[in-house]
Amino acid sequence: MYDKVIRGGRLVTPGGVIEADLAIEGEKIAAIGTGLDGRDVIDADGHFVIPGVLDVHVHLALPFCGTTSSDDYYTGTRAGARGGVTTLIDFAIPYEGDSLSDAADNWLKKAEGKALIDYTFHICITRWDEHKDQIEGMVDRGFTTFKEFMIYESEGWQSDDRAMFGTLEKMRDLGAMLLVHAESSRVLDELIERHHTPELMEQYGARLHRMTRPNYIESEAIQRAVQWCEVTGGQLYIVHMSTKEGTEIIKDAQARGVPVIAETCAQYLVLDDSVFDREDGHLYACCPQLKKPEDSARLWQGLRDGEVSVVSTDTCTFTREQKAMWEGDWTKIPMGMPGLETLMPVVYTHGVLEGRLDIETMVRKLSTDPARIMGLYPRKGALQVGSDADIAIIHPDRKHRIDPDTMETNADWSPFEGWEMAGFARTTLSRGEVIVDDYAVVGEAGRGRWLSREYAGLEPQKSREVEA
Ligand code: URP
Ligand code: ZN
Ligand code: ZN
Repeated sequence: MYDKVIRGGRLVTPGGVIEADLAIEGEKIAAIGTGLDGRDVIDADGHFVIPGVLDVHVHLALPFCGTTSSDDYYTGTRAGARGGVTTLIDFAIPYEGDSLSDAADNWLKKAEGKALIDYTFHICITRWDEHKDQIEGMVDRGFTTFKEFMIYESEGWQSDDRAMFGTLEKMRDLGAMLLVHAESSRVLDELIERHHTPELMEQYGARLHRMTRPNYIESEAIQRAVQWCEVTGGQLYIVHMSTKEGTEIIKDAQARGVPVIAETCAQYLVLDDSVFDREDGHLYACCPQLKKPEDSARLWQGLRDGEVSVVSTDTCTFTREQKAMWEGDWTKIPMGMPGLETLMPVVYTHGVLEGRLDIETMVRKLSTDPARIMGLYPRKGALQVGSDADIAIIHPDRKHRIDPDTMETNADWSPFEGWEMAGFARTTLSRGEVIVDDYAVVGEAGRGRWLSREYAGLEPQKSREVEA
């Protein structure tokens, strides 16, 4: 007799989809088989039972663009749980004068008492000369992923090529991984400056966001980051990739054996830049911006073929009131969108139900591969004995209408408002505890735990000698 048994579902396991029961003892998966019995029985008849989703790109309560993103660890983790997310990774960013360790401490405080699901942080390196000697200490503290931004000079976050090169060398030597926001800052600044006139702003409004971020802004930066990855041999992870050109660069680099991994986000798969023609188009400003349908198609292809390893959200929620700060100047729009609650619904509905991905591939891209890449496997990311009992149970085709009034996010709008989507969690379990029941959050804030890690990246790191 086990503590809990999930009975009769279609389990998506590393070995394939099987009809079976899954037993839980305490916080762990204890058995997978038939005829299992438990003190609590959760009926999963007619449902998929999948490992909890890891959203490895999230910004909660982030001071950014002159305001603070409005989903915090309370609303953000509740929103995630409704969408079957059981682990998230946020970005700890050092404020002026802060060490990397101070940044981690600040972010731990944000989560304390509020988080419903488990979490950890990527540590952002924003001042190379000050931070470079602190990296190893952060790995010892259980943080194995670092982040550099190639843009955002005005936020004080921007890194240059010297920092990227040096960080990648350290990643190679420490078995850690560098995440990069790849956009070409100098050319982007030039394009923004050329367009930043009262006449053009009057004429084009929020369309200027798409007009000043052509695809080459992203692809040139990816190319450059990949170059530093190739010569150093340090593990690189390109975040929120949005372009077909970027996907091609990743594919070619991986074929040459370059240790680079790419992530895209749900919004780049199903939205395109025609949203900027809408009256409320400014709501959709995010960074990098939404691209064209052919970019989305190439990203789906990349998920199928393997050069795109992860789908995340880049959740960075701003309310309508916050977005209104732009007052007609697109450079002042707080950039980002809500996403945690709709990640799996988007990928399940537009990927699995529309025949772009099979359910096993979806599970790999939302759960198993993020866990492996971020150093959380086998604790997270798979339905297997010994792993944390982080589980989502989803109905194969029951759809819900996206309505911000009924959602857990603090956002009073959704990029998918009015869409009908399946893939919300009927039940979510986090470490064996039911935190979503019958599509409603029932878990207590503060139960989520910080996750320590010992490695990151898919490939064993190998040093490359610089030839004389
Ligand atoms: O628009 C976005 N993505 N906001 C969050 C910051 C970032 O670049 O990830
Ligand atoms: Zn970014
Ligand atoms: Zn981000």
